[in-house]
Amino acid sequence: MNFKNSVIWITGASSGIGEALTYALHERNARLIISSRRAEKLEEVKNKCAGNKDNIYVLPLDLADTESLTQKTEEALRVFGHIDYLFNNGGISQRSLAVETDIDVIRNIMEVNFFGTIALTKAVLPSMMEREKGHIVVTSSVMGKFGTRMRSTYAASKHALHGWFDSLRQEVAVQNIDVTLVCPGFIKTNVTVNALKGDGSKLGEMSKGQQNGMSPDACARKILAGIEKGKEEFYIGGKEVWAVWLKRLAPRLLNKVLRKSNVT
Ligand SMILES: NC(=O)c1ccc[n+]([C@@H]2O[C@H](COP(=O)([O-])OP(=O)(O)OC[C@H]3O[C@@H](n4cnc5c(N)ncnc54)[C@H](OP(=O)(O)O)[C@@H]3O)[C@@H](O)[C@H]2O)c1
Repeated sequence: MNFKNSVIWITGASSGIGEALTYALHERNARLIISSRRAEKLEEVKNKCAGNKDNIYVLPLDLADTESLTQKTEEALRVFGHIDYLFNNGGISQRSLAVETDIDVIRNIMEVNFFGTIALTKAVLPSMMEREKGHIVVTSSVMGKFGTRMRSTYAASKHALHGWFDSLRQEVAVQNIDVTLVCPGFIKTNVTVNALKGDGSKLGEMSKGQQNGMSPDACARKILAGIEKGKEEFYIGGKEVWAVWLKRLAPRLLNKVLRKSNVT
């Protein structure tokens, strides 16, 4: 598989993993539509790309505004005529105990990570089904496979993505549409800086896990390599990835380990 000339729509492209995916795919001569809320940050990312920038289109959107996503998709489809890959990468994390998290904050995280992601996917799918070609990539998390303290809603939103996209994969295989779920562990991005506390304010600091995590560029390279190998679900990171296997093989042991671990 080769991303050259492919039309790729990336959400969460203004920062972290999505930004790194933008640079990596631009280097491979893909045609890109890059989205997130902050138009000025997206323009900065576009300007950092070397060489020809005509193949990069900035399309600001808010995943929480699900009603706007059909119109955003119409705009995206007009840019290069079709979409080969949708990288559902935009998202927000959480750093708060379940009992101390306002229900509005819980709804907001679900709105962005789950409802926004599936609304955008639903808007893009008909054009892929008509062409009988397409690939949906979802940045989930190892938190999509197990839960830890301070991440109840984040883990719930990522688990929900697995249920929805595993089902979708069975439905659209006949139309030659692939679905890939990517589950990173700790990647050194602003995800914890932007993570929401129980009252909805931002944590505002990078956690130890993130500080010691893999670089977003390395993560982006691994994401593209996994897609090229045709993987349907894969895990990226350090030793935290072993927890996914422990959850399957010895879930009670994992629960004991996690209770004693510093997971912030
Ligand atoms: N870093 C990690 O350790 C890690 C691990 C596992 C999974 N992930 C997942 O990786 C994805 C990317 O996160 P990251 O680590 O790169 O963090 P990040 O640096 O905070 O980037 C998050 C991206 O999502 C966008 N975003 C947030 N809310 C949005 C909204 N309402 N509408 C549209 N875009 C929105 C942000 O852009 P704007 O602010 O401009 O909207 C930004 O581009 C997320 O889904 C996250 O859950 C990260």
